[in-house]
Amino acid sequence: MSNLEQTLSIIKPDAVERNLEDKIKTMFKNEGFKIVKEKKIKLEKTDAEKFYKVHETKPFYNDLCEYLSSGPIVVMILEKTGAVLDNRRLMGATDPKNAEDGTIRKEFGLSIDKNSVHGSDSIDNAKIEINFFFNN
Ligand code: CMP
Repeated sequence: MSNLEQTLSIIKPDAVERNLEDKIKTMFKNEGFKIVKEKKIKLEKTDAEKFYKVHETKPFYNDLCEYLSSGPIVVMILEKTGAVLDNRRLMGATDPKNAEDGTIRKEFGLSIDKNSVHGSDSIDNAKIEINFFFNN
């Protein structure tokens, strides 16, 4: 049986820049997610480096951190039964070219970097990521 879960979602700079916030939030709500908390912020590059620390050895790490801190983002706590997995399904594959029809990245993603949304990949990481942005 699944449990009520929370996961962290980020609407990335490419999507905020194209005014896709409301459309993406509607997709979450239509799938039964409750947006428990949200805020629009702009990260310093050093914050992005901390957030994506798990990727620090990857060749794309620097570009990724530059990108996430390049403009405003919307960070949200999403809640529903099975939120972590359901959010990953709704986002679609990391590279929008491989994302299935009906997913956020298929609909709005521009490239593997500008893929419009981030979502926690496990329950443990969801807790860490939620705490990173909403710890007060
Ligand atoms: P996200 O879910 O935010 O997690 C890490 C991000 O790194 C990922 O989405 C992509 O936007 C970005 N990225 C860039 N290149 C790659 C790659 N080769 N493999 C995985 N992620 C990549």
